[in-house]
Amino acid sequence: MTEANNQRFSAEAAAWDSNSDHVHTCDEAVQSIMHHVPAFTEGKAKDLDVLEIGCGTGLVSFKLAPHVRSLVGVDTADGMIDAFNAKVAALPKPETANLAAVNVLVQDADDVHVQGAAAALATRRGESGHDVPYRFDLVVSHLTLHHLPWLSVVLGILMQTLRPAGRIALTDYEDFGSEAIRFHPATKREGVESHGIKRGDIEAMIKRAGFENVKVETAYTFSKKVEAEGKLPETTMDFPFLICLGQKPS
Ligand SMILES: C[S@@+](CC[C@H](N)C(=O)[O-])C[C@H]1O[C@@H](n2cnc3c(N)ncnc32)[C@H](O)[C@@H]1O
Repeated sequence: MTEANNQRFSAEAAAWDSNSDHVHTCDEAVQSIMHHVPAFTEGKAKDLDVLEIGCGTGLVSFKLAPHVRSLVGVDTADGMIDAFNAKVAALPKPETANLAAVNVLVQDADDVHVQGAAAALATRRGESGHDVPYRFDLVVSHLTLHHLPWLSVVLGILMQTLRPAGRIALTDYEDFGSEAIRFHPATKREGVESHGIKRGDIEAMIKRAGFENVKVETAYTFSKKVEAEGKLPETTMDFPFLICLGQKPS
């Protein structure tokens, strides 16, 4: 599955940002995250160290980074990481960037690459000492949960990556029934673990992982052109996107 994802997303990486659907849904996700995570509305977001799962080329990351202290993105597709790094290198002052991406599969809260990237950003902003292992205040993810097997295990790892009272704000499209499969054309279904996320299931999983203040809400609705399939014609369908929220106990 991971290799299928790596090949597909690496192949798509170079053109990813020129797809207006990608840009639009990422903008909506950022708006929703900033609306639901209190630090943004309370003017405290500059204190946040953020971990992003499935950062891709950084469409969410580069929008969030100016508002927070630091952002480390992880992704398993080499092409996506290369595109992210090219965007960092193209910044006016790349040596002062507060974001970085590493090719990591989410399976260890203390992953050496994540730890290294977070520590390098801390050093860059002049911090002499920092948590060891490094921990985050907020974990975000957009359009990636549906690629992850063992979501309940992943949620447990996310809990470990957080500081006390840290939060998750994860967005992805909802599995609202059998029609949700049409989000991906048949040619892109390999490596898709589930056709969206089920509201009740994810809420129960987040609670079981030990998070408090759990809420799963519709964040926005995304109208997407879907391909003809069998007897079904090409059409435009509305896909609800969920934001999944929770807080680590303090
Ligand atoms: C649909 S793309 C979304 C990328 C980005 N969040 C965006 O919206 O532009 C899903 C991303 O998840 C990454 N991915 C898939 N499985 C992953 C895993 N197990 N761990 C981390 N990233 C993964 C893919 O490489 C891909 O970049």
